[in-house]
Amino acid sequence: MKIGIFDSGYGGLTILDKIRERLPEFDYIYLGDNARAPYGTRSFEVIYEYSLQAVRWLEQQGCRLIILACNTASAKALRTIQQRDIDPERLRVLGVIRPTVEAVPAIMQTGHVGILATPATVSSTSYVLELEKINAMRGDGKQLVVEQQACPMWVPLIESGEHMDRGADFFVDKYLSELYSKDPQIDTLVLGCTHYPLLIEKIQGWLTSYALNGGIHATPICQGGIVADSLSDYLRRHIDIEQALSRNGTCRFVTTESTTKFCDSASLFLSTAVEAEHIELPE
Ligand code: DGL
Repeated sequence: MKIGIFDSGYGGLTILDKIRERLPEFDYIYLGDNARAPYGTRSFEVIYEYSLQAVRWLEQQGCRLIILACNTASAKALRTIQQRDIDPERLRVLGVIRPTVEAVPAIMQTGHVGILATPATVSSTSYVLELEKINAMRGDGKQLVVEQQACPMWVPLIESGEHMDRGADFFVDKYLSELYSKDPQIDTLVLGCTHYPLLIEKIQGWLTSYALNGGIHATPICQGGIVADSLSDYLRRHIDIEQALSRNGTCRFVTTESTTKFCDSASLFLSTAVEAEHIELPE
């Protein structure tokens, strides 16, 4: 049996990459619903419906464990899928928000946290609620200040391969300036969308010039390594699932878009050549 990794598009490749580095022995299926990306500007109903179609398809392909490597799907669809749509004896579906939030306390310095995410993730308030829960559990009375910023243009820039161009600078500056105008003290910046690590150079550049102009130097948090560590820990705690997984070190790439377009972009993101298959997700 395999591990399924699902995202609306290319963003989940940033998670897959780190998971395969950490757990290279297992067999993976990466599914990108590129034809219908972005999800982040869609309604709850549509995000849930598309995510469930992807989960069902990956289950049919022999996945025993599926990671929604998509914050938007994790925020809007994960809980309903876990509670209503799957039999946990046959399939487990995990998200990326909880492990990310668990990593924040060790990184934050003053309790000022910024969340960058899609409009859907921001409107779900999942990050804010999970961070408040974790902070209450820690019980050291440290004040937590969380501000969110929706970045609706970042995913389209990445999906269209425009994210390294100068035009992208405008939108990096726009959203980071808006976030820091809400709280200039943010020292921990969660990239709460799996696409955003592809903009890390531009984000780092903005943070450096903010610090050079007298602001705080914030630490950005990318999710890949965090999710990989959390999956490894999960498999240690769920030996039955770990033992059911096949170990040939393979990865099958599947997209709902054209395979040529997917392979060109995925190869860039993973810095290795990729072959992909086209599918249509049954409704
Ligand atoms: N990469 C996804 C996320 O982590 C979704 C981006 C989108 O489709 O809008 O939120």
